[in-house]
Amino acid sequence: MKTPSMILRTGLLRNDRRQFLTQLSLAALFWTVPGAFAGELILTPRQTEGPFYPDKLPLDTDNDLIIVNDALTPAAGEITYLSGRILDARGEPIRNALVEIWQTDKNGVYLHSGSNNHGQRDSNFQGFGRFLTGSNGEYLFRTIKPVPYPGRTPHIHFAVKMKGREKFTTQCYVAGEPQNERDGVLKGIKDEKAKKSVIIPFAPVKNSRAAELAARFDIVMGFTPEA
Ligand SMILES: [Fe+2]
Repeated sequence: MKTPSMILRTGLLRNDRRQFLTQLSLAALFWTVPGAFAGELILTPRQTEGPFYPDKLPLDTDNDLIIVNDALTPAAGEITYLSGRILDARGEPIRNALVEIWQTDKNGVYLHSGSNNHGQRDSNFQGFGRFLTGSNGEYLFRTIKPVPYPGRTPHIHFAVKMKGREKFTTQCYVAGEPQNERDGVLKGIKDEKAKKSVIIPFAPVKNSRAAELAARFDIVMGFTPEA
């Protein structure tokens, strides 16, 4: 099976790229992420949406945040394949969940007019992306490893939208970041296991010449959908 980096090295045609990102066999990635699937089921804690959900959505809202539309220049930053599953309280996959992520660019700037240092925004970074889960509950994004900005340890925001349910928002964090200890939002999660469940490794993809990373974040909802 090809790893994402192998596929990218073979030189995808631009039109094929989106398809690749939606059809990619995620199994190739999981082999490189230690601890994937391990451990007991912990309900993912809700965390604040924060003030920086895009105030104007980009025209391109696909799951590849590295390339905006058909731009030739990719975003600056450490390329990361961020994947996971949306699960119910029994660990069963949830389909038709709309997963949205948003985060700052490499300069710590959000896709939001009120973001700090807006003039330094990396216009090649999409800043926001969406993925609709299929029957296996999987989502996948290509994005960058989050960086700190004043007042916050590196994190990626998530919203999960499901028909008939209140929007669920949370955030994931980078394992090993010293600022995690001091982050107010993260410290707000009082249950230690729940806190640990949102701090995930960003591990190098094996044999990736472009030094890409992979990160795995399963989101476990506190309910079971009716059949
Ligand atoms: Fe944030």
